[in-house]
Amino acid sequence: MTEPRVFFNFGITDDSHTLSAYRGRGGYQALEKALRTMQPLDVEKEVTTSGLRGRGGAGFPTGSKWSFVDKKSPVVYLCCNADEGEPGTFKDRWIFEHNSHQLVEGVLLAAYALNVRHAFIYIRGEFDLSYRRLLLALEEAREAGLVGERILGTEFSCDIIVHQGGGAYVCGEESSLLTSLEGFKGYPKNKPPFPAVKGLYQAPTVINNVETLATIPWIITHGGGAYAGIGAQNNTGTKLFGISGHVNKPGIHERPTGYPLKKIIFEDCGGILGGKALKAVIPGGSSTPVLKGFEIENVTLDAESVIKAGSMLGSGGIIVIAEGTCMVRLLQVLTRFYAHESCGQCTPCREGTAWMDKVIGRIVAGQGVKGDLERLEAVTSGIMGNTVCALGDAASMPVASFIKKFRDEFEYYIEHGRSMFDGRLEI
Ligand SMILES: Cc1cc2nc3c(=O)[nH]c(=O)nc-3n(C[C@H](O)[C@H](O)[C@H](O)COP(=O)(O)O)c2cc1C
Ligand code: SF4
Repeated sequence: MTEPRVFFNFGITDDSHTLSAYRGRGGYQALEKALRTMQPLDVEKEVTTSGLRGRGGAGFPTGSKWSFVDKKSPVVYLCCNADEGEPGTFKDRWIFEHNSHQLVEGVLLAAYALNVRHAFIYIRGEFDLSYRRLLLALEEAREAGLVGERILGTEFSCDIIVHQGGGAYVCGEESSLLTSLEGFKGYPKNKPPFPAVKGLYQAPTVINNVETLATIPWIITHGGGAYAGIGAQNNTGTKLFGISGHVNKPGIHERPTGYPLKKIIFEDCGGILGGKALKAVIPGGSSTPVLKGFEIENVTLDAESVIKAGSMLGSGGIIVIAEGTCMVRLLQVLTRFYAHESCGQCTPCREGTAWMDKVIGRIVAGQGVKGDLERLEAVTSGIMGNTVCALGDAASMPVASFIKKFRDEFEYYIEHGRSMFDGRLEI
């Protein structure tokens, strides 16, 4: 049986990102259907029925998020989160490069459901081809009467505004994204109030990930029930998984949720480089806790199964680590990133991420001292749950899980002043 595909127009031809290619494969028919035959509430109902959960990392049910918004408010905003800064995550870039129109159609459908007249796409500043393809798609869509005033000759009007980020990972956090969009420094805010109540320019605002929104056209074409019938029961549909690291064929794979993690690594990605053994997997982007190779035996790619194994599905960025990799040095790469990206607004994160980076840097330099691991553990527990946004947790989880799972490697490094893998390192 062929597997269901929500992302159907990718790389089939060199021009698969164009309007004619998208339309040739049924593109914008969902928008036609919604505007001509459905009320805005019907669109929301289909999304609720589908069971779609946000693809940005937290997995919040999309229909519920939409239901919190007062659609009678004089202004409602929609912001598409295209910041994609989490290391190991590259699925949204793939959507932009291959089929920006699918996202544009998803944005329009969400805007119709939510009574939005101005939708924003906040795109990561470093994305170049994605940005150009998105602008091209919007230009084509405007010319074809699909974006702007009286879309497809109906009463529905909506403009889409693209905003390039400045390269800060924290601006992917929703409240920080909105602050940045308003022209201020991208500091996250305490919640409540949640954006659905008080968001952009104090108006009710929905923030959804690129993949989340790009899934809506399929749901409207085939029905929420059909989507709910795909994949795992509590985490329905298909999902884009980006596999990187020590595999023979890294890349993006669309699979139904509930798909075996081992299968995607060993069959779809051709197994581990050089025929080596699998040492570890970071299953959902660099902030999610690491799993040892043997721990993924029965793990399937849905929120419940990955949580049961001790990690999180996150953004679906799967980082594969082969035997022979030094986990101490790998952790240093991650801690350096999070320390650099902390916005510095709250003390546990600002000081804690810097401390973790300093202590791990000292260990890697061969100057670790007895008590460093306990010190790191104390810092992680001081950060977790005590910060304004989840970047603090994102920085702490890799440190806590790496030490828990690979303590012997850290102890060896501190005792001998070098890695137990020196001379045969992969990274
Ligand atoms: C530090 C940090 C960075 C984030 N970066 C992104 C991002 O790049 N893209 C994204 O969609 N969500 C990101 N999120 C999650 C968003 O805050 C938000 O939950 C998401 O955009 C909601 O969309 P969804 O419901 O469609 O998943 C980030 C969260 C944090 C704490
Ligand atoms: S947790 Fe870190 S990134 Fe988030 S607001 Fe606090 S200092 Fe800034």
